[in-house]
Amino acid sequence: MAKKLIIKSFPNIKKAGQRNFNLKPLTRKANLNISDELSTWAKGKSFCLFTSGCQANVRDSEIIVAYLTRLGLNQITDPYKADLVLFNTCAIRENAEKKIYGEIGQLKQSAKDNPNKIIGICGCMAQEEKPMRFIKEHFPYVNLVFGTHNIDSIYSLLDSCIKDEARIFDVTSNQGEVVENLPSSRFDKTKAFVNIMYGCDNFCTYCIVPYTRGRMRSRSIDEILKEVNDLISLGYKEVTLIGQNVNAYGYDLKDPNSSFDKLLEAVAQTNIPRIRFTTSHPAYFKEEVFQVMAKYSNIMPSLHLPLQSGSDTILKRMNRHYDKKQYLDLVDLLRKYIPDVYLTTDIIVGFPNESDCDFEDTLDVVRKVNYDNAYTFIFSPRDGTPAYYMEDKITPKEKSIRFDKLKQLIDQQATISASKQVNQIVEVLFDTVSKKDKTMISGYSRHNRLVHVKGDESLIGQIRKVKIIESRTYSLIGELLDD
Ligand code: SAH
Ligand code: SF4
Ligand code: F3S
Repeated sequence: MAKKLIIKSFPNIKKAGQRNFNLKPLTRKANLNISDELSTWAKGKSFCLFTSGCQANVRDSEIIVAYLTRLGLNQITDPYKADLVLFNTCAIRENAEKKIYGEIGQLKQSAKDNPNKIIGICGCMAQEEKPMRFIKEHFPYVNLVFGTHNIDSIYSLLDSCIKDEARIFDVTSNQGEVVENLPSSRFDKTKAFVNIMYGCDNFCTYCIVPYTRGRMRSRSIDEILKEVNDLISLGYKEVTLIGQNVNAYGYDLKDPNSSFDKLLEAVAQTNIPRIRFTTSHPAYFKEEVFQVMAKYSNIMPSLHLPLQSGSDTILKRMNRHYDKKQYLDLVDLLRKYIPDVYLTTDIIVGFPNESDCDFEDTLDVVRKVNYDNAYTFIFSPRDGTPAYYMEDKITPKEKSIRFDKLKQLIDQQATISASKQVNQIVEVLFDTVSKKDKTMISGYSRHNRLVHVKGDESLIGQIRKVKIIESRTYSLIGELLDD
């Protein structure tokens, strides 16, 4: 018999797009209650979690793992053996979604063999209407769906799943809240992500994030500092302050003391050895942020500053709120304060009706700025966003030619930038054993360059001086120096 379907709420992209800027973020404590039935069910059972997407999803996965392990479930990596398989998904481009369909498809037989298996989807894709309707119809064995706003309902959702033996689709398309006291099971012992804000109010016309993550909500400075201080006492060496638009931090709190530069300074004063932050939006930068970056040596000299396009026409149609000149002026100002800054960016190629001239403007900015690295994407139309409905006469072939041209220029710049590191002495925070060669240990320099050295696991968690002996496009090889 087909399982009963309980739809508590279905994603609604229009509702998610509504804005109410007058609302201050609602803050509440996380729900941690476990029912007796759930606790009995969990005995001897296991789960497997797959994560795709950005830092926001990685951080959410750390919270999901903590919820599931405190229930008594054992984390394993084999989805065929696990009693609960969860996909924490990303919706930023179409290929991210297609990949998930393929992965869920592979679990069909395993779900047949074990009718009590729970297969769940969460994350940004779960907030989208069409993919969820598709999943409801084409993957009947997916029996749990929850969105980015209700991670802390995971126990009650699992409860319903096991008690009612039903398919639960619970996705709320709301403004979102700030939930504190969330349990956390950090994936790394050296570096940690700290959410400073959730959601995004920018509504760049190509982007799905404001619809999947809700309105911008900032956490209080006190909660953020408490989390950073707890990490310091656990021995963490680096925090990355994360949010979709970190330099807009505090706009919603309506408190003049809650701005990004003030938060950054307060975090620097905790004396944690390394601080990074991402992602910054060029339209929101205040000079004060660069002043704070220059003042504190524990704020790393690197910045990810998405350009998206170098054309004023396209930037306007993207709703980015800056033009080519303002972007270039901002980079000049940044380099005045931090001359050796490691600068990276995101660029979208083939936005609807991007002309040759528009693309030339993008290349022109890339040549002028001379990035250390850049992430380049071909525009992917996202259902429900304004750009999805824009006329587009540019053929996929033209887009792909432009993409290759841009990628070539970026690779060239990155190779030259990396080659200048040879013979330099840099400080590296080691964090992993290299996957390809177990005798190599990897970490990042202050400028966020990936460095590999010969060594053993005892290096992990240490900040050590390294002499660079060889450069590749996106990594460096070094020799460990005695301290
Ligand atoms: N909040 C960040 C990150 C957003 S997602 C920011 O504003 O920069 C990361 C990158 O994905 C974006 O910077 C953009 O370059 C790219 N991206 C977002 N939507 C896209 C789409 N529909 N098609 C192609 N690339 C996209
Ligand atoms: Fe998307 Fe723009 Fe917000 Fe970044 S700033 S998350 S690109 S809407
Ligand atoms: Fe993807 Fe959601 Fe992040 S769409 S990029 S996981 S905010």
